[in-house]
Amino acid sequence: MLNFELYNPTNYVFGKGQTEKLSKLVPANTKILLAYGGGSIFKNGVYDQVKAALKGNEIIEFGGIEPNPRFETLMKAVEIVKSQNITFILAVGGGSVIDGVKFISGAVHYEGDAIDILKKKILFKDKSKVIPFGTVLTLPATGSEMNSGAVVTIEATQEKLTLGGSALFPIFSIVDPTVIVSLPKRQIQNGIIDAFTHVMEQYLTYPHDAMLQDRIAEGILQTLIEVGPAVVENPSDYKLASNYVWCATMALNGLIQKGVPSDWATHMIGHELTALFEIDHARTLAIIAPSLYKVMFETKKEKLAQYGERVWQITGNTVEEKAEKAIAKTVEFFHQMGMKTKLSENTDNYLNTADFIVNRFSERGWKALGEKQNITLEKVREIVEMSY
Ligand code: NZQ
Ligand code: ZN
Repeated sequence: MLNFELYNPTNYVFGKGQTEKLSKLVPANTKILLAYGGGSIFKNGVYDQVKAALKGNEIIEFGGIEPNPRFETLMKAVEIVKSQNITFILAVGGGSVIDGVKFISGAVHYEGDAIDILKKKILFKDKSKVIPFGTVLTLPATGSEMNSGAVVTIEATQEKLTLGGSALFPIFSIVDPTVIVSLPKRQIQNGIIDAFTHVMEQYLTYPHDAMLQDRIAEGILQTLIEVGPAVVENPSDYKLASNYVWCATMALNGLIQKGVPSDWATHMIGHELTALFEIDHARTLAIIAPSLYKVMFETKKEKLAQYGERVWQITGNTVEEKAEKAIAKTVEFFHQMGMKTKLSENTDNYLNTADFIVNRFSERGWKALGEKQNITLEKVREIVEMSY
């Protein structure tokens, strides 16, 4: 097993009715910025719950954080935090609102041009230099409620870039599984597939000796397969909802990444498809992952076979046979979860995509991706073209 440090300071507050605890979780004597998205919180009652729980607190509201949050929008919130002397931010929403708040939190005291936070991938490590924040999660998918990473889009250049650092964990996150009842089916499907792919990025690499991490990863995958199709149809079933939500957090709160190699190339390529075509994040992963497993078959085949045997109970005479069946089974699951796994099924305008992505990675100085750094730009091209 590789050496690791496990640090996760987020107070994770899970279950029905937990929003009532907000007043105790928000630090005393703070002036709060309540940040939200396009308004779903007004329709499903979450806004009312939050306001009721925070009666008596001084709150300024900032709405309009878009899916795939925009740098340009977030900078408006940064100005408000500065001019209004805000001392705490509450993100109420899905991954986009939470990620947006992480950016705002870091940008307020950032000395220099805030766009460099994204362009230079600044890591925030000093808690005294960020605005503390908590979250009320409304869309289980990204794990952003219990991790310190974020993804922000620069509208002007159509770039989707990451930021993070140990100072950007939420202080607390309220995670009430009943919030999923108001989600459109499409978003629940997205949540399951995003969480599933998070596990795969950290699990589907090459054989190593971290046995527990493999078993936890396989347990999350099996649970997502078990509850995924059912929770889309019955989001008010609390057993299904609570297991889905907990899987989504566990998939990306850092635990299964400790001591193991990880890949993340599906995400890196997928982000470009969102930046270019505004395809939902999870749907980009379902487009790229199958081609990536095929192009990187020699590197990943042992782990693919293990995944096939343990997660899908696949049998076969050779590693290759089991690995191939495992890829096919994964695609079948993606389809069952409403994903369209070809780029051409998601946009008409796809023909120059591989060139565009390869050029962009090259301009950024990225030479190779993946757990073995062997997904070269030529491989990236092959993966993207195979996904057309
Ligand atoms: O904006 P509102 O009106 O709230 O509506 C949202 C949005 O339209 C709606 N929604 C959220 N909760 C709802 C609801 N509608 C009804 N009822 C509810 N309870 O759903 C839509 C999508 O929301 P969004 O936050 O964009 O989705 P998601 O949580 O999937 O977040 C996606 C973003 O997170 C990033 C993605 O790249 C993308 O930008 N990611 C962040 C990660 C992280 N921080 O660790 C990791 C991920 O891999 C991912 O990259
Ligand atoms: Zn993701």
